[in-house]
Amino acid sequence: MRAVVFDRCGQPADVLNVRDLPVPTPGHGEVMVRMLASPINPSDLMYIQGQYGIAPQLPATPGFEGVGIVEKSGGGLLGWLRNGKRVAVINDRNGNWAEYTVTAARKVIPVPDAISDEAAASFFVNPVTAVVLIDHVLQVPRGEWLLQSAAGSALGIMIVRLAKRRGIRCINIVRRREQVAELSGHGAEFTLVESAGSIPDRVKEITGGNGVKFAIDPVGGQTGSNVIASLAHGGRAISFGTLSGQPLTVEPRFLIAGARSVEGFWLGEWAKNQSIPRMLRTFREVRTLYRDGVVATDVAATYALEDVAKAVTHAAKPAKNGKVILRIGTR
Ligand SMILES: NC(=O)c1ccc[n+]([C@@H]2O[C@H](COP(=O)([O-])OP(=O)(O)OC[C@H]3O[C@@H](n4cnc5c(N)ncnc54)[C@H](OP(=O)(O)O)[C@@H]3O)[C@@H](O)[C@H]2O)c1
Repeated sequence: MRAVVFDRCGQPADVLNVRDLPVPTPGHGEVMVRMLASPINPSDLMYIQGQYGIAPQLPATPGFEGVGIVEKSGGGLLGWLRNGKRVAVINDRNGNWAEYTVTAARKVIPVPDAISDEAAASFFVNPVTAVVLIDHVLQVPRGEWLLQSAAGSALGIMIVRLAKRRGIRCINIVRRREQVAELSGHGAEFTLVESAGSIPDRVKEITGGNGVKFAIDPVGGQTGSNVIASLAHGGRAISFGTLSGQPLTVEPRFLIAGARSVEGFWLGEWAKNQSIPRMLRTFREVRTLYRDGVVATDVAATYALEDVAKAVTHAAKPAKNGKVILRIGTR
């Protein structure tokens, strides 16, 4: 089979190759999936650069999520049930940027027929993160303020739509002015351009002087620090990404005197601690939100596996307006 491989960590376009590898065999409790499509997420790029929470066992194949068809089960009830199904594929061990991959049967989730392969490729990471952050981790009540940065990202747009559906008042931070109109097309009420003045001051103005009780930040650096500085008394900020590559700066007294807190979130870590019924309920909720267009992902461009270097270069560019997808096979 053809597979994307890297022998050392580095800039993705420099270190990725496409090679022939043996088709992997599933063990008990695992399935072999023929891959159809996989998105290039920020986490994939960080993994290839050796800057992610999981270190690659080199040589390695990237690709944490995607969609494919289960072609073989290595044994076990779940694998047998999934055989022949088109599924979202979660893979933190073997990598999905290959014609075939092997993953645990419990890490493949059947996807509705109506969703295209390109859209189904992003069925898991961002939609589940949106639901988990808002409904499970922060449990933002109806009518409350929520502040988010990188609001024009695929995940940020899902949060805008999900907040609207939940009756949450979302304040969005973006780095490009064009994104204001784009986000209002998704129902955003308040979108702040980073360069247009103090974020904490503008957030206080919008919220009547208090700041926000709930905030999420995948950027870090100055942007994330502004998000934290916009917290109200008792406010919680979740740091869940490192898009800027820069550390957060926090004034300790601001946290101490105002009972404010900053927490980290990683979907993989969260998922490890959930019961199977809770995960199934979350997937059911994600399916409903997909059906209603709340967690849909726009596609910026599609590339063949052989063009992976061009694809990762595109995915790392600013202003790409959607996901870059690797098209690996056809149904
Ligand atoms: N912790 C978790 O479990 C978890 C799960 C899912 C996602 N995430 C994180 O969530 C973030 C968004 O993911 P995604 O898939 O939605 O990303 P995406 O669609 O690829 O979009 C990236 C977005 O980030 C913006 N951006 C990039 N660098 C930035 C910077 N230095 N300052 C401000 N904005 C910047 C880009 O703005 P432009 O449009 O202007 O280029 C773009 O809108 C990533 O950090 C990802 O790792 C974390």
